[in-house]
Amino acid sequence: MENFFICGGNKLDGSLEISTSKNAVLPILAGCILCDKQIVLHKFPKYEDTKNMLNILQSLGAKYFFQGDSVIIDCQPISKREIPMELASKIRSSFFSLGAILSRFKKAKVAYPGGCAIGARPIDLHLKGLKCLGVKIVDKHGYIYCDGTNMKCGVVSLDFPSVGATENIMLASVFLKGTTKIINCAREPEIVDLANFLNSQGAKIYGAGSSVIEIEGVKSLNGVEYTPISDRIITGTYILATCMCGGNVELTNVNYENVLALISKLKNNCCKITYKSDKLTLVADKRPKCISKIDTRPYPGFPTDLQPQMTAFLSIAKGTSVVVENLFESRFKHIAELTKMGADIIINDKAAIIKGVNELYGANVTCFDLRGGAAMVLAGLVAKGYTTVRDIHHIDRGYYEMEKDLQKLGANIERIKEI
Ligand code: UD1
Repeated sequence: MENFFICGGNKLDGSLEISTSKNAVLPILAGCILCDKQIVLHKFPKYEDTKNMLNILQSLGAKYFFQGDSVIIDCQPISKREIPMELASKIRSSFFSLGAILSRFKKAKVAYPGGCAIGARPIDLHLKGLKCLGVKIVDKHGYIYCDGTNMKCGVVSLDFPSVGATENIMLASVFLKGTTKIINCAREPEIVDLANFLNSQGAKIYGAGSSVIEIEGVKSLNGVEYTPISDRIITGTYILATCMCGGNVELTNVNYENVLALISKLKNNCCKITYKSDKLTLVADKRPKCISKIDTRPYPGFPTDLQPQMTAFLSIAKGTSVVVENLFESRFKHIAELTKMGADIIINDKAAIIKGVNELYGANVTCFDLRGGAAMVLAGLVAKGYTTVRDIHHIDRGYYEMEKDLQKLGANIERIKEI
């Protein structure tokens, strides 16, 4: 097991390039299944989740190799239509491959997906959507068996704008004759990126980024060289880290619009943020101030994936803040850990009431999920004394060598193997 050992108190200073978005790359990798020509993904991020998704493609029969920071993928040899339990349980986005496998082979068998332990994470919307397209579904012994022999285009109206369900249905519809419509779909930038990736190979997907997507079926895809978007959650994590520690940081490869939900909340708070081209500059020289209410919502609302890091930020802000988590019911596990470090937070159902303290102190804390783990690192960076953050394999799922990024900015953080 590996831990982070952090000596808190350093200001953050320097420049850092933000890496490629995990949540964009995962559905894009599933999308590779649709194409029997070579695909090159540039700036490929080696997070544990993206590496696991490559393993899933390989288990289906695909071949891939790395060239510098690019990955070259050949899905032509894919022959299997089944994602086994041991791979699916490692990563939730294995489930996106269902739509893509169905699209290419008309039959698929996929185990129930894994992922962060942040709540029930049902898949009913995915299955309902596929049924609307004529897929016959049998749910047996932990596997979903799908028969898409009679698949046809149709209208899918989602009860909630689920990111994963939107991506799955998009992937399932690319080759369906006629036009498929997804109503009340998710509007996340990662959806737009998936549509751009597929369209650049000849798919005809219109409206991504709005609440209605239309997919006009095409016969085949051409392969492409593609660079997915940068990671808005990592960008937000390092913005909040700088705000907490104070300092002067430049982040490059940033898409400003995608992090506006966070930046708008930091207006008149503790920092000055400027932005030009893909470069964001942040000067933080004051104590954070409370924010009356943070409410997690689908994009363009405040992202649930930044809720734990924001909670850490507010734990040292002047005054009382309220954070409401609307998306995932078990996404407050980091709060008990923050209180071990001196934070004053009470949970009332979906709301966390945070009374900002003057300072946190170092402690021995544990990660329970990816973004909650990032929040513990942020708390450790600003805390007085030493913090050990345990079970950091959760963090490695979505941040590549996070300690190296933070060391570049002057933080005192080390990765330590526990014997
Ligand atoms: C994706 C992201 C995840 C992010 C989340 C919300 C990836 C790999 N993961 O997850 O990081 O936290 O979006 O922005 O991109 N729901 C149902 N039934 C379903 C599907 C979802 O009830 O079939 C509910 C969920 O319980 C949740 C809400 O819809 O309350 C949003 O979930 P969804 O957008 O599907 O999240 P994911 O795609 O799992």
